[in-house]
Amino acid sequence: MASRHMFGAVQRRAFSASAKQASKVSVLGGAGGIGQPLSLLMKLNPRVTELALYDIKGGPGVAADISHINTKSTVKGYQPDADGLKQCLAGSEIVLIPAGVPRKPGMTRDDLFNTNASIVRDLAKAVADAAPEANVLVIANPVNSTVPICAEIFKSKGVYNPKRLFGVTTLDVVRASRFISQLKSTDPADENITVVGGHSGATIVPLLSQAGYSLEGKELDDFVYRVQFGGDEVVKAKDGAGSATLSMAMAGARFAESLLKAAQGQKGVVEPTFVDSPLYKSDGIDFFASKVELGPSGVEKILEVGKITPYEEKLLDACKTDLKKNIEKGKLVSVG
Ligand code: NAI
Repeated sequence: MASRHMFGAVQRRAFSASAKQASKVSVLGGAGGIGQPLSLLMKLNPRVTELALYDIKGGPGVAADISHINTKSTVKGYQPDADGLKQCLAGSEIVLIPAGVPRKPGMTRDDLFNTNASIVRDLAKAVADAAPEANVLVIANPVNSTVPICAEIFKSKGVYNPKRLFGVTTLDVVRASRFISQLKSTDPADENITVVGGHSGATIVPLLSQAGYSLEGKELDDFVYRVQFGGDEVVKAKDGAGSATLSMAMAGARFAESLLKAAQGQKGVVEPTFVDSPLYKSDGIDFFASKVELGPSGVEKILEVGKITPYEEKLLDACKTDLKKNIEKGKLVSVG
């Protein structure tokens, strides 16, 4: 009896220790195709205490709807009036940015640059002013360029913390894990294929060999192509109505959950993500997605790419060429 009582007390203490940590999550572009299901998933996450949704259109409506879900977090929607964005951001531990236009059939992610670069630039300025210590999770494409844009804005405002800026590449990992499970008839939940590089076409490099798989020839080529261009399957199927939203929302929620877990003291939380990375700086590549151990300060440790096959080495070479250009393009956006 005594031990049961003690166990209960320990449990309560553990609960109150984690419950004490208020975690405000804001979603910029919260009324969009990704923003809505992503906000829904964050509302279902018990680690989130406050959810703030901002959009140029429809934020309060989506927030009112989600706020009726019977989980503890509070939900509020903000509009681009007066201090809406500032209030949305204030006190955020995590800022998710799915704001921006999605692809239509025939477009590459780079084709979105002209529109999304200025959207992300302006939102990054607001984050720098209102939530300079937040973890910033960039979903808006082209991620290979929008992440460097954020870094330049934060530098110009004197608040750049490379440990807290992430390009969300989780969907590539989710897709690779799902696609290999279809080929091998395994449980996709047990698969965790590392994907490195960036987040578009040839910059997406799945490292199947590290999961112990050795596909050959056309089967391997087809697998790699499907991971690199899986987004196109969705864009084509939606036929002009946008790109991946639901699978992306799941992937974004998974990454946010990993960060919250790590912030709340869980050790060994590792996710591939596109960050300011030392791995290929000597090749002029300042940002790179690889496995990253997360911690209370954001990036805890950037893991090496590790042992790869000559085939994967070739993929990595092609990735580096494109990635360098995409990063340069982002850096050149005027911060003024
Ligand atoms: P969407 O058009 O359905 O939603 C975008 C939302 O952003 C809209 O509600 C719009 O009103 C809002 N918005 C536009 N400008 C804004 C601003 N200045 N401030 C606040 N909100 C603003 O697009 P969807 O499908 O949600 O995609 C969003 C972005 O995510 C696109 O750039 C897309 O390419 C990208 N994406 C990224 C993926 C990844 O793996 N990182 C995967 C899939 C899409």
